[in-house]
Amino acid sequence: MGYAYKIEGGSKLSGIVEVGGAKNSALPILAATLLAKGRFDLENVPNLKDIHSMIELLAHFGLEIHWENPNHLVIINPGLTGIEAPYNLVKKMRASFLVMGPILASERHSRVSLPGGCAIGARPVDYHLKGFEKLGAKIVIEHGYVEAKADKLVGTKIILDFPSVGATENIMMASTLAEGTTILENAAREPEIEDLANFLNAMGAKIIGAGSSTIVIEGVDHLHGAKHRVINDRIQAGTFIIASILQGGSIIVKGAVREHIEKFYEVLEKMGVVFTEIDEELHIEADLKNLKPVNIKTMPHPGYPTDLQSQIMILMAMVNGESTVAETVFENRFMHVPELERLGAHIHIEGHTAFIKGGVEKFSATEVMASDLRAGASLVLAGIMAEGETLVRRIYHIDRGYDKFEEKLTKLGAKITRVRLEDEV
Ligand code: EPZ
Repeated sequence: MGYAYKIEGGSKLSGIVEVGGAKNSALPILAATLLAKGRFDLENVPNLKDIHSMIELLAHFGLEIHWENPNHLVIINPGLTGIEAPYNLVKKMRASFLVMGPILASERHSRVSLPGGCAIGARPVDYHLKGFEKLGAKIVIEHGYVEAKADKLVGTKIILDFPSVGATENIMMASTLAEGTTILENAAREPEIEDLANFLNAMGAKIIGAGSSTIVIEGVDHLHGAKHRVINDRIQAGTFIIASILQGGSIIVKGAVREHIEKFYEVLEKMGVVFTEIDEELHIEADLKNLKPVNIKTMPHPGYPTDLQSQIMILMAMVNGESTVAETVFENRFMHVPELERLGAHIHIEGHTAFIKGGVEKFSATEVMASDLRAGASLVLAGIMAEGETLVRRIYHIDRGYDKFEEKLTKLGAKITRVRLEDEV
């Protein structure tokens, strides 16, 4: 028994939609509260499934957590009651692996279940582990668990093989309490890394350079409680920007931060979209019929984000001419393509590139299935632009990352309802 979205396509959407807090910032920030005893006040935390999974994991280590207000989370760390993150909690969400660095740093010992594969690719954790080893930890992988132990962690130079977001976060957190200075090179530069570093600095860490490819972490003896406001969700912002373009610009997006997805804006401007920012409101001018096709390649930040790849594909399918999407971050992130084809898009894949033949005037409503949360959001956008009734299955993916998605879309005028299905997972 599970839920699906039933969408009656063809409605005209308009109004203002507000962007919420970033899931991918909040998750590592929540994990970082394992580093120190004290009280943490976190504002702008999205209330969604992945956050609940992380809260459950923190509670497992003895932390006390409550919502003070709808997006204000209070976490009290009275000292950790354990060092092991079990499979049943880690398997729900890969980002659970982010507890490894903080626990290793604070307890000098941590044992975390391997996260396993997921729909968008194998996604190993080798870069994280190499970093911990460099800091002096002994790593043993046995029985599906990674165990890391260290008498002490010592700062050193670590060069990542690839600017992995999770590895940068995990290693940065572990280094905060190491002896001496850690220099992390080829670090990920995503805005979420900077947000985490700001939070860690508020806890008493000494980090400079976050947001660039070299991060310097001077180890400190201890950290303490802190207050922090999580940045807005740039992927949610991007999703609503696409929704607005599909609607000819009738949706105003509030709280989008251009610098966080500069490349995305540039690509859309190249297609012919015009953005005007007035205060915090983004006004969008776009005429679907006159937009130009475009070629994009997903890359680590500041490149085009992989998390906004499936959404722009909806636009590409409707714009005249051929567009391409080359996916270089994940090996298997085109699972939405067969579903889009069922909705009437013309796409073929060769290796890591999708060729999209545009010109679809209206998608043709049918039953489709979400394969990950971004793919799920894209199918919803396509459903809104379809003729007839679309059923998007497996929306538990969407629930992991989009706070109040149907509520926000309904407010804009979409006809979308959550339906419970006997045969849904
Ligand atoms: C983060 O995942 C995000 N998740 C993802 O968000 C996002 O798609 C991704 O970064 C890329 O931007 C969170 O922040 C919680 P990576 P992460 O480590 O940290 C390979 C969403 O929709 N790799 O930068 O797991 C890996 O397999 C999502 O919200 C290794 O080989 O991403 C992938 O191909 C899903 N070994 C590439 O690097 C490692 O040790 C990038 O992964 C680590 C990663």
